[in-house]
Amino acid sequence: MATSRPRVLQFGKMPLPQLDAELAQAYEVTLLSEQPDRERFLAEHGAQFEYLVTSAAMGVPASVVQALPRLRFVSSFGVGFDALDRESLLRQGARVGYTPGVLDDCVADMAFALLLDAARGLSESDRFVRRGDWSRGRFGIRTRASGKRLGIFGMGRIGSTVARRAAGFDMEVAYHNRRPVEGSPHLYQPSLLELARWSDFLVITAAGGDGTQHLVNAEVLDALGPQGFLINVARGSVVDEAALVQALQQGRIAGAGLDVFEDEPRPHAELLSLDNVVLAPHIASGTHETRRAMADLVLRNLAQFIATGRPEAEVPWSAAQQAATAAAA
Ligand code: 8YV
Repeated sequence: MATSRPRVLQFGKMPLPQLDAELAQAYEVTLLSEQPDRERFLAEHGAQFEYLVTSAAMGVPASVVQALPRLRFVSSFGVGFDALDRESLLRQGARVGYTPGVLDDCVADMAFALLLDAARGLSESDRFVRRGDWSRGRFGIRTRASGKRLGIFGMGRIGSTVARRAAGFDMEVAYHNRRPVEGSPHLYQPSLLELARWSDFLVITAAGGDGTQHLVNAEVLDALGPQGFLINVARGSVVDEAALVQALQQGRIAGAGLDVFEDEPRPHAELLSLDNVVLAPHIASGTHETRRAMADLVLRNLAQFIATGRPEAEVPWSAAQQAATAAAA
């Protein structure tokens, strides 16, 4: 007997191409990004969809949520949910699954790749060798990373994985969070400013969104100081990028390693001509192993929600709403 497959609206192509194929095999998928007139499509067909698949990078704007009056569940590829419009999703009673836990190692690895590169000038030295400059002179000496002070802003799953890596580099670790993490062996700094003042390397692993917008500003960068390095593997929105450009240009911090930017995929133009910053195109989770694990969780979240009404991993505000609805019932 032929069973009808659930309809799924897919916001755009996923960051792992196999996932597009796997979704299309399991569900009746419509790719919103391929519709010639998205607004018109949503106006005509929006009411057919109960399930939406998107990614942390694509998110889902309020206008799309509002055009899907029967939306019940969003399965998002990624751990960040700052680009998913919380208010409209809550208003609609739609629940949201995401992919925490499976990318911590790769993001922490990337934080260290950027940290070591920024400190030792690895990308710059690669350009130096390729240009043929080695035969004309020596590459300048750089900053030691091991044994230094590592400040972590945002001691969640990824932050604590970065802290574990730091032990292998004999680094002292301190952190700042809204509140101290119970049982953490690391020094808690009560403000981001104090953490920056204390740190040789300041690593950002805090969530994006309104609560952290531009918290790393000129004052924090000056507290990090001319010997300090900023590493960001979280969200570009946490850092005031214009202030960072100025601090890098004026030598008010020593350098930076950035995987994320305020307006992706368009880093501030001035960053491109600076040698004391390492730039990566938001690839911290971009390994075969991790993207596969993220894709699997996107599929499990969707399948489990459809089967049981409960995804395996649900964003905290969505889960809180579910608990409140259950308590009121
Ligand atoms: C994703 C990310 O690769 O998980 C997140 O929140 O930012 C990255 O891991 C990217 O957002 C894919 O959508």
